[in-house]
Amino acid sequence: MSGLSEQLVDGLNASYGVHARSRAAHAKGVLCAATFTPTASASALSRAPHFAGPPVRAHVRFSNGSGNPTVPDSTRDARGMAVKFYLPDGGTTDIVAITLPVFFTRTPEDLIAFNQARRPDPATGEPDAAKVGAFLAEHPESVPAVTAAITHPTPASYAALTYHALHAFGFVASDDTVRYGRYHLVPDGGEEILDEEEAAGKPADYLRDELNDRLAGGPARFALDVQLGTADDPIDDPTAEWPPDREVVRMGTIDITGLAFDREGEGDVLVFDPTRVPDGIRLSDDKILLARPGAYSVSVTRRTSG
Ligand code: HEM
Repeated sequence: MSGLSEQLVDGLNASYGVHARSRAAHAKGVLCAATFTPTASASALSRAPHFAGPPVRAHVRFSNGSGNPTVPDSTRDARGMAVKFYLPDGGTTDIVAITLPVFFTRTPEDLIAFNQARRPDPATGEPDAAKVGAFLAEHPESVPAVTAAITHPTPASYAALTYHALHAFGFVASDDTVRYGRYHLVPDGGEEILDEEEAAGKPADYLRDELNDRLAGGPARFALDVQLGTADDPIDDPTAEWPPDREVVRMGTIDITGLAFDREGEGDVLVFDPTRVPDGIRLSDDKILLARPGAYSVSVTRRTSG
């Protein structure tokens, strides 16, 4: 019997197939160079070094949710935005976000069961609707994420979508006060969605091409926001959306300046891990959050061997 992390990656492989040298999820992506500039409110909420200023260098990787690296960009699916901040002391910290407002399950064990239920039937290549239906009947908390994924609009651009990091993190101020909040990455120009006819006419890699063209005209900007929870908002349940009326703190802006080619070459391994946090940011007891580094390590081992 393999461990939980292996089982999580095996579950992704069963849904998406095994693809050499590719991430087990979010296999197709575009790496970009970026700069993060914090606001004064960011340093009041958290003493983390990148919130203190001055601006820091960052990488942003946009991705499609699938573990298939050749998936056409118009496929209905979540999109990812992962940000790596290069800290003044030489360390790094990551934010890893997707376009769904909530995650599929509360626990890694339920995620394994969900991936089992949606495994494509070898005869049809499609998931068995009865199995997925039975899972959802037992797990009503999974319905919002599944609905959001299968009705996901086709984006005009990776840079014109809103991304959510889903887990709550504790933001620790210089006086040790801790407030829990959730990150949202909001595009400056709003969301841009294609209609069905426009989507049907797009080439397989249009999102990369669009980003390259867009950045030739100047940086693409995102706001980094933290939505603060109240005592009523669970900090360990990524399937539960928090009410939209919660206080939002603008932490800074991310300016994406161009495609980047300075990482992931010549044996360099780039991995974005949401539990890699500096002093000033704390993890919650969210079981999905805590299961991620183990699964990401297994994916890294598999994509860098053979
Ligand atoms: C237990 C739950 C989860 C599992 C097992 C899982 C699994 C994975 C794996 C195996 C990878 C590839 C890692 C690599 O090879 O570098 C990955 C990447 C990714 N995951 Fe997850 N994931 C989980 C939860 C989440 C959640 C909650 C989010 C969003 C908040 C998320 C967003 C992403 C994104 C955006 C990437 C791509 C990162 C990049 O560009 O390198 N995942 N995930």
